[in-house]
Parts: sequence; structure tokens; C-alpha cells
Amino acid sequence: MNTHTIGIILNGATGRIGSQQHLANSLVPIREEGGLEVNGVQIIPDLLLLGRDQEKLAQVAKATNLENWTTDLDAALSDRRYSIYFDAAATHLRADFLHKALAAGKHIYTEKPIAPGVEEGLAILAEADARGLKHSVVEDKLHLPGMLKLGRLMKDGFFGRVTGFKLEFGWWIFNGLERASQRPSWNYREKTGGGLISDMYPHWRYMIEGLLGPIQGVVTLASTIQKKRADETGAPFDVDVEDNAHTLLRLESGVIGSIFNSWGTRLHGEDQLTLQIDGTEGSAVAGLWDCWTQSAKETPVLGTFDLGRNERHSATRDFRGDWEMVSGRGTYKNPYRYGWESFIRHVAGDEAAVSPLGAGIRDVQLSAACLKSASEGRWIEMASILNSPEKKFL
Ligand SMILES: NC(=O)c1ccc[n+]([C@@H]2O[C@H](COP(=O)([O-])OP(=O)(O)OC[C@H]3O[C@@H](n4cnc5c(N)ncnc54)[C@H](O)[C@@H]3O)[C@@H](O)[C@H]2O)c1
Repeated sequence: MNTHTIGIILNGATGRIGSQQHLANSLVPIREEGGLEVNGVQIIPDLLLLGRDQEKLAQVAKATNLENWTTDLDAALSDRRYSIYFDAAATHLRADFLHKALAAGKHIYTEKPIAPGVEEGLAILAEADARGLKHSVVEDKLHLPGMLKLGRLMKDGFFGRVTGFKLEFGWWIFNGLERASQRPSWNYREKTGGGLISDMYPHWRYMIEGLLGPIQGVVTLASTIQKKRADETGAPFDVDVEDNAHTLLRLESGVIGSIFNSWGTRLHGEDQLTLQIDGTEGSAVAGLWDCWTQSAKETPVLGTFDLGRNERHSATRDFRGDWEMVSGRGTYKNPYRYGWESFIRHVAGDEAAVSPLGAGIRDVQLSAACLKSASEGRWIEMASILNSPEKKFL
């Protein structure tokens, strides 16, 4: 079979998500398996790793058997061997980097959030379209095995009429003072694109709208749980963004649901991320890998609280026992690799993009609406982009 290379500049190659998910779990395996077949041609990614720290870049290159890396963004962008620019660098730099890449004639693929606000996102999209360049945003979570199972139940009509949903995501992020933080310090500073809502809510937008349809409006409360943290050098700093948020949403269908999202909570439930959907014919809860159902027929008849006579009743009901795990653990593609394969097919084979920038702008719109709601203490409508040509992307 014929082979072609496709040149990709990977900015943020040394970062948490760039080095692991995009490089080690996606692009490197595609290369090692001889490329991706597109219209009868094997497309092999030719990668240029881009970052700020030469030593770290050399380490990542060595670990992934790659040769090409640079700290020079302008030189990388002017190199015609690379037709794609991918951005997984820190959030606050993204919009500028994407504009630069488009000006240099590159197709763009980017991590979320694609821009600090809707206006900035629309400007990037307008430039890409004006230049005839292709674009896509990373929207990985719907391709998690548990969420794929939930999506299948939705397609099969398992729920009957959907009546509600509940999305929960949380973990305890150490503050770097007593124990090392699991997230970079820029996540906790406004000026570097920090804050839980702009970082995490883009995911909740495409998950909720992808499974359940358009969001009509939101109301959010947010707070800062850990007010003091230490950065990567051990220097203490004051946190000026939220690390905890609760949102109520109404969909255009009239269904109401909630998001509980915190970087300061301890896990007790099924998984770090769970999405429960309720319907007249049944309910399902999905985590990262698994999904559990309870049909209307299997729903137990529960009475009022039965505390018994003793201080502690010995026969507390096993509520989890009332749920059935959806079968088919099987083999699943890494969700980031799924994104890369789709984007390479989009660029090399002209297949439609799975998540074009319009979807990424709608992701940012949810974050912006929730931040506005939290700061102004009121309900915010989400309709504007839905009425634009971007609707076709949602
Ligand atoms: N899709 C997902 O599930 C997911 C998960 C985590 C992060 N992300 C996104 O990926 C991006 C990177 O997040 P991360 O957690 O990997 O962060 P990180 O801090 O681990 O990595 C960020 C990268 O950007 C570079 N960088 C940082 N500050 C820079 C600066 N001032 N100038 C140039 N380069 C700079 C770093 O060198 C590093 O390579 C963020 O936009 C984040 O929202 C997405």
C-alpha cells in the first residue's frame, strides 16, 4: 500500500495531556502500527514536538522514539513540511497560537477551551474559514467506554421519555503545600486561564448536548475551596479562581438536570466521573468504563426510611444491587486516539470533522454562561449560537 506522511506540530508536547494522551497513547501508536489507512493510503504522522524546555523535550522525544523537537514556534510554523498545528499548551496562550498557526497556513486541531470567550472563538473560526483551513477541537469524553454504552442506551430508546440527568465529577486536588498538586498551578490563576469552570465545563457541554440535546439556560454557584496553594517551585500563592461549582440546567426539551463539579471533594460513588440519566422507562448511570441500568420493571418499591428500633439497623438496603451492569467491556479505542484518527481522516481524506471549532465555541459558551451566572447570581440563557449557522455542528 502507498504511504504518505502528514506533518504535525505538537505544541505542549511536554505537558500532562500532550505527552501522555496525545503523544504516547495516540500519535505514537498510530506511527508504530504503520500509520492510518485513509482511502487506500497509509498516512503516517511526522511529528515535531514543540515546547519551552529543551531538556524535557529531549526526554519526551527519547521516550517516544521521535527525533524532531524545537522550542522555536515561529520556525516550526514556517516549516512547510508540517501542515497541521496542534495545541495542548497552557490555556491562556491558545487563541494567539491558533491565530499564528492559521496565518502560517496550518490546519488546526486544539485542546479545549479553544479561546477565553465566545467572541474570540468566533474570530478564530472566521479566520480558519476565510483561509479555507480545516479545524477541530478535542472532545474526548463521549468516547469513554462508559459514555459510549450510555449513548447506545439512548439510541435504543431505553429511557422512554427522558426526565432528568445528573453529572458529577470530582476529586481532591492537593494544594502543593502539604502534598504535591496533581494539577498545574496555572489552573488556579485567572491570568493564566485557570478556574474549574472554563477548564472542565467545555466537556460537560458536548456530553450533555451530545446525548440529550440543546441546553436552554443555566444557573451556577461557585466557590474557592483551597484558597492558598504552592506552585511547581514550592512558592505559595493565593488562588483567585473557583475550584468548585454547582449548576442547574434546563434543556430546550424542558428536561432539568445538574452538574456537581469539584476539585475539592473526596470520592465515595462509582467513579470520578458519572452521568446519570433518568427516564420513564428506566435509568442508567455511566462512569469512565462501566454503565449500570435499572429499568422501570426492575425498579424496587421503596418505602419511607426504615431505621428499625436499634441505633443501627443491621439490614441497610444494598441499593447498588438493584442495578445491572451493561455487558461488553471489550476493547475500546483511547478517546484521544479516536479524535486524532478522525482529524487525520478529515484532513487527508476529506471526511467531515467530528468536532469542528463551532462545537468548541459552544463548549466555551457554556463556561461563559456559568461564570456569568455565578458572578451575577442569576439565570443565563444559552441560545445565541444555536440560532447561528454553527447549529449544524451541535
Ligand atoms: N481533553 C482533556 O481531557 C484535557 C485534560 C487536561 C488538560 N487539557 C487541556 O490541555 C491543555 C494543557 O493542560 P495540561 O494539564 O497538560 O497542562 P501542563 O501544564 O501539564 O502542560 C502545558 C504545556 O504548555 C506549556 N506551557 C505552559 N505555560 C506556557 C507558556 N507560558 N508558554 C508556552 N508554553 C507553556 C508547558 O510547557 C506544557 O508543555 C489545557 O488547555 C487544558 O485545558 C485537556
